[in-house]
Amino acid sequence: MPPPVPRRKLFVTTALPYANGPFHIGHIMEYIQADIWVRFQRMQGHEVHFVCADDTHGAPIMLAAEAEGIAPEALIGRVAKSHVADWKRYGISFDTTHSTHSPENTGLAQSIYYKLRDHRPSLIGRKTIEQFFDPVKGMFLADRYIKGTCPKCGTKDQYGDACDNCGSTYAPTDLVDPYSTLTGARPELRSSEHLFFRLSDPAVIEFLARWTKETALQPEVFNKIQEWLGDGGKALADWDISRDAPYFGIAIPDVPGKYFYVWLDAPIGYLAALKKHFDSGAARRAYPSETRSFEEFIAAPEVEQYHFIGKDIVYFHTLFWPAMLRFSERKTPTNVFVHGFLVMASGEKMSKSRGTGLSPQRYVELGMNPEWLRYYLAAKLNDRVEDLEFNPDDFVARVNSDLIGKYVNIASRAAPFLTRHFAGEVLGEAGNDPQGWLAATGEAAQEIHAALDDRQYGRAMRKVMELADQINRYFDEQQPWALAKDPARRDELHRVVSDCIVGFKNLSVFLAPVLPETTRAAARFLGFGRDLGWDDLQRTPTRVGEYKHLLARIDPKQIDALFEPPSPQPSPAKAGEGAAQAHAGTTPSAPRPSPAKAGEGAAQAHAGTTPSAPQPSPAKAGEGAAQAHAGTTPSPRERGEGGGEGTISIDDFGKLDLRIARIVGAEQVAGADKLLKLTLDVGELGQRTVFAGIKSAYDPAELVGRLTPMVFNLAPRKMKFGVSEGMVLAASGDGPGVYLLAPDAGAQPGMRVK
Ligand code: MSP
Ligand code: ZN
Repeated sequence: MPPPVPRRKLFVTTALPYANGPFHIGHIMEYIQADIWVRFQRMQGHEVHFVCADDTHGAPIMLAAEAEGIAPEALIGRVAKSHVADWKRYGISFDTTHSTHSPENTGLAQSIYYKLRDHRPSLIGRKTIEQFFDPVKGMFLADRYIKGTCPKCGTKDQYGDACDNCGSTYAPTDLVDPYSTLTGARPELRSSEHLFFRLSDPAVIEFLARWTKETALQPEVFNKIQEWLGDGGKALADWDISRDAPYFGIAIPDVPGKYFYVWLDAPIGYLAALKKHFDSGAARRAYPSETRSFEEFIAAPEVEQYHFIGKDIVYFHTLFWPAMLRFSERKTPTNVFVHGFLVMASGEKMSKSRGTGLSPQRYVELGMNPEWLRYYLAAKLNDRVEDLEFNPDDFVARVNSDLIGKYVNIASRAAPFLTRHFAGEVLGEAGNDPQGWLAATGEAAQEIHAALDDRQYGRAMRKVMELADQINRYFDEQQPWALAKDPARRDELHRVVSDCIVGFKNLSVFLAPVLPETTRAAARFLGFGRDLGWDDLQRTPTRVGEYKHLLARIDPKQIDALFEPPSPQPSPAKAGEGAAQAHAGTTPSAPRPSPAKAGEGAAQAHAGTTPSAPQPSPAKAGEGAAQAHAGTTPSPRERGEGGGEGTISIDDFGKLDLRIARIVGAEQVAGADKLLKLTLDVGELGQRTVFAGIKSAYDPAELVGRLTPMVFNLAPRKMKFGVSEGMVLAASGDGPGVYLLAPDAGAQPGMRVK
């Protein structure tokens, strides 16, 4: 056992979910990750205050409510109910949950704002900016409510920040024929004074550089921040924290008609939830020795403050949030724990035609056990900022073989011998330990302890299952069923099955943060009349009860039902849900490369829409392609390896290196009546010249800017007019007409086609 540690005081949060729709599976992953850690810390006897709240403000929620003809308060109230229900179903043990639309949050946001304003020099600046305004709706428009024609390539209906067709980025004011997506009206440029948090102030930059170094950030997070802070923080722009009415938010107290931008009050919601937790007496009920007020607690040096968040909101949590806290004379977070995204492994069971992904609500409604999901995710989680894939086959196999086949199996095999022959009595002293697994729990316990503490849950679960394997092997070798037939070997039998039960108890302690319900039932069976604590590793159960099955296996039929396309249900919070699912189901955007981008990206995510496709840098394009590939590779079973007449194997196909290319040049070839000479930009792979027989169908000028797939590894061919270094792909039939292929919006030059 590790030496006793003084009782830590922990304030832990997850990100605050937008109140625009029910949870998607990505949310649930974050809650499970944080909940495992929190339960583990509680088991150590530490004082943990684990809180969350709905993030309720902003234009999208205001507009969604309006579209339903209800008040925003009614909308967020309804969503809050669904969130609370899901937290409960998935065993997420928040101590208090709250809302950013609350008196606590209003008070805290306004007081933090005053501190920033009154700081010397003042950290709140004012600047008049020009922005699009919808004259019909009577409101300023966030970029995502503006569409128009791309100024570069002329494609219609492009968003205000980037063109899906040609990939160029620009300001909404650059759009040709802009229109408001809310009313279709042509927006007018109007000016308005905005308030800015002066991140560019040298004191802020100096503080952030120091905070970043002093905080034990994950290496990926640290590196990202270094980029943002690079070059003395020159890239840090002041942050626009105000929005004009109409807006659903918190009023800026000294500027009538203006509201805080939702991302200003959202993280303050962490404090608001904790304040409610203390003011309501809940903190004290949980820890009678904790007699401090909210303000005393949050300011106390020994209190540790941790935020679990996803990789898309790092910018807000490692720059804005610490700076807001520091310059309002508050304590800064101890750390921010960043996870990657849960993505769907596509394939037979998760293709688009069979539904958009794993609905956590449907999962429960089908009677599936949330602890299966908790275990599966735990087995995959680590402390890195990596995406993880939900794979249905893997899910079934993992849960059934580990939890049922290994863990539960021990109790179900050993217990009947104890109850039948020894009235359930468990021998206290671990005697023979031939394979070292009982003693090993000493060392193993430390390893598992460290892994759970470090959020390396996958490592911890592997170690737990190794121990389970050892115990099962011991059971097999000792053959208790044979011992039971020989009265002379009764003591031996008692020893063997007792040891197995002690091993099972230890595994239950290790798994308790992950499987709270199952291990609660296990604790009852083991005669502990309470939930297990970490120090129960040192206690031996004295008498086991009748063994009742602890956990059912997953029936693969349930998986089929889970991924059947749900019957379309018109839902009021449609926009929000769509976004949520797109989020969970698609390749998420990597943390935005530049500070300005991070702000925009998040603003868009906030706007409750599908985050714009990542604008990958050349390096990113490769990754994107890899993921697209992962998403469409058939399982071995489907592949029909070998093939027959007229078919090719996947390996044959794999010889083709197909790439997305952008046509950057197209010209007539003197003397050729079928050919055009194309210059293709293949991203990182450079440029290629290809002669294509498409002259009859295309005017060179209309080709420039287009994307098309090409065969990249075709041997170069010397032609009369020059060397052709590849081939573009076009469809044609018996009649005239040649039709160049084109990828869907979002594809980037250099991406692989598979
Ligand atoms: N409201 C903001 C957070 C404000 S925190 C002061 C927000 N909300 S969100 O509902 O969009 O996302 C909530 C959390 O879920 C974020 O940490 C986000 O990264 C996480 N996830 C969203 N999609 C996810 C996956 N597909 N996988 C894992 N986590 C995901 O952002
Ligand atoms: Zn364009």
